[in-house]
Amino acid sequence: MDKVLLKNAKDIFDDAVDVLIVGNKISAIGEIHGTSDARVIDAKGATVLPGLIDMQVHLRDFAQAYKETVRTGTMAASRGGFTSIACMPNTTPCLDSLEVLEKLTEKVSESAKCKVVPIPAMTKDIAGVEVVDYKIYEDYGVVAITDDGRGVQDDKVMREVFIHAKKHNLKLMQHCEVEQISQGAPLHKGEKSDQLNVLGQTGLAESEMVKRDIDLLREIGGHYHVLHISAKESIEHVRAAKKEGLNVTCEVTPHHLLLCDEDIPGANTHYKMNPPLRGRADLVALNEALLDGTIDMITTDHAPHTEEEKSKGLEQAPFGIVGLETALALIYTNYVKSGKLSMEKLVDLMCIKPIEIFGIKNGTFKSGELADLCLVDLEKPKTVSPDEFTSKGKNTPFTDLELFGWPILTICEGKITYKDENYDF
Ligand code: DOR
Repeated sequence: MDKVLLKNAKDIFDDAVDVLIVGNKISAIGEIHGTSDARVIDAKGATVLPGLIDMQVHLRDFAQAYKETVRTGTMAASRGGFTSIACMPNTTPCLDSLEVLEKLTEKVSESAKCKVVPIPAMTKDIAGVEVVDYKIYEDYGVVAITDDGRGVQDDKVMREVFIHAKKHNLKLMQHCEVEQISQGAPLHKGEKSDQLNVLGQTGLAESEMVKRDIDLLREIGGHYHVLHISAKESIEHVRAAKKEGLNVTCEVTPHHLLLCDEDIPGANTHYKMNPPLRGRADLVALNEALLDGTIDMITTDHAPHTEEEKSKGLEQAPFGIVGLETALALIYTNYVKSGKLSMEKLVDLMCIKPIEIFGIKNGTFKSGELADLCLVDLEKPKTVSPDEFTSKGKNTPFTDLELFGWPILTICEGKITYKDENYDF
């Protein structure tokens, strides 16, 4: 069996550690000597974290391979320190049948650089009309379902989704957007949408669906998760539901935590995503909710689009930005380095919670567990350079931002899946 000895690393508490990996597992953590048959990697004081988990990634592929493939998306994930990611169903064809699930699994086993958890559709073709036969999903080992990209509009259909999901042990991940309220508006409604002369959507477009679904959860039961939460009203609903003891969880993206509509520098489509960057008060509420534990996890909503698509102007360009290759450095720099969150909390938000909530099979940096880890240089700053992304998508609002906390080596189940060429490992 392959043996790798990672020497001179630091753990999240800044204590010196060596890590011995045998096959796909961590066999020891501590001060380790005398393993002459192991490949030795000198971490030179870099910090070792468990491999990160991202529960919201658009891998595209199939007919949208020009935007991203399983290969390029999972390479981007590995470069970002992730060892497990969830694949959202708005692929073409849609991930809504056994056939497409099998097709994805085949692609993953042929070409993926990290673990991929399929999150198939709640309704056929994510059209919000016909509920899929969830028995197929249950038999396939699916953990959660979503129509991400869209929310289920019809109350009756959503009620059916709740009932069937509960029967088949599937968790619900909702993209909360009442389309009658949002009208597909490219930006949040406020001064910025007025200034740029485009339609704006209020936070109610999101929170009204959160509210409806929490009522269904209370009545029917199961597990309900709010994807990419963005509005202060939604936070209030989730906070109250948690207090009530309901089984509700939610996630936030780095961009919704760090940017609001005031930061949009003109008609730049790298600031167009769904849900949109909201107002200052929403940003404050999201940050409070992150610190008080109302928000359970951080996900990227990695949504690659081509430059040509993104050059169509605020109204026509598709919603979405990439996130896999900047998430860790953004969160580390803005929350851990600045003293707002501990490294332990970062690991909780980006690894432990997805395991606890969705049962993802990923190591947590313990001896005997899967050897999923990432090594991070906390000292050396680097600027965000989309040209260097391994994702096909270069659509990020964070270009040229100087950040700390970049992954330099990622190991997924004992295999090296990313190595920064500037480090001599
Ligand atoms: O901005 C977004 N882009 N939000 C979504 O929910 C979907 C995603 C995409 O698929 O491009």
